[in-house]
Amino acid sequence: MKVEQNALLTPYNTFGVAARAKRLVRIAKRSDLGELESVRGDDPLLVLGLGSNVLFTKDFEGLVALNRIRGVKRLEAGENGEYRFRAGAGESWDALVRKMTAEGHPGLENLVMVPGSVGGAAVQNIGAYGVEAAERIESVEIFDREKSEFRTLTNEECDFGYRSSVFKTERGSKWVIVSVTFALPAVTQWKPVVGYKGLTAALAGKTDPTAEEVLEAVERLRRAKLPDPKEIGSAGSFFKNPVVPELQARALLEDYPQLVAYPLGGRRTKLAAGWLIDAVGFKGRTKGRAAVWSRQALVLVNQGGAAGSEVKALADDVISAVERKFGISLTPEVAIL
Ligand code: EPU
Repeated sequence: MKVEQNALLTPYNTFGVAARAKRLVRIAKRSDLGELESVRGDDPLLVLGLGSNVLFTKDFEGLVALNRIRGVKRLEAGENGEYRFRAGAGESWDALVRKMTAEGHPGLENLVMVPGSVGGAAVQNIGAYGVEAAERIESVEIFDREKSEFRTLTNEECDFGYRSSVFKTERGSKWVIVSVTFALPAVTQWKPVVGYKGLTAALAGKTDPTAEEVLEAVERLRRAKLPDPKEIGSAGSFFKNPVVPELQARALLEDYPQLVAYPLGGRRTKLAAGWLIDAVGFKGRTKGRAAVWSRQALVLVNQGGAAGSEVKALADDVISAVERKFGISLTPEVAIL
């Protein structure tokens, strides 16, 4: 593997922050993984997919490894006719969704336009418009850097939760995701997922849309609300939607009847962080060259040339304001480095 010294990370993080890495390599194929530990030496390691979930607040004094393992391979159909395939961790998530939908394999269409890589989709258990990646993932192949071996984790072993997985834990930090195996419902079993507020409206009354129609409706919704990654740096939602005890949510709803809350069962309620941030008047707020997106308060953006520390400072202001008014601490979903 070719090692680049003092590498500029601007092209490798969707925030477009101009931090540097002491050293940078590209993992292009499985056999590169065997070399990773010796190249790393005593340096800290950061494996990046397409960099859509990180914020660099300073230079990274270690080795950045870009996961560029590609390839999509069809596998034998599942027991119930599921369409199964394996995709390299470095594939673009959005491109994969479009390819599957266009080739007549429904099941991923609600997740179109989510930025990032296939590996990142598993780490983060991405979700949008009523579907989470975990519902379509059968297994995840990893390379264990300590044992220098490949292993496959079942969906259960991935311990997927809301924007979380085993890959975000200490144990997972020793692994590199190599590929993800998906099982999509058989065409005859597939049903469009259109229950998400807003999606029904975007489908203009169509109750039985095709996967292409769902994909197009999601595209329209995302274009209307979220910044275009080609033009404006961001990492999508900056914070997670907080999950609070049902009692706390009820008390808040008495004071703020407009609060957007989703009961989760188990006496827990998920609150819309975007609403909370909006309600403290932060939508459109700027700090230096960082801003809260004017059409979706959950998204922080780089208005051009922002340092990661500026975005972080704005995020801290958001956290304090929401904490002060609602007594809720927002947690970033973006990895802050
Ligand atoms: N809202 C406001 N003001 C705002 C933003 C939102 O009042 O500025 C309200 C909306 O009106 C709506 C509610 O809050 O009633 C929820 O908003 P939205 O439907 O836009 O979804 P979200 O909960 O803010 C989540 C995901 C998004 C995903 C959408 C759609 C998280 C952290 N974010 O956002 O994922 O696209 O649902 O499913 O769960 C991402 O993770 O990067 C991401 C973009």
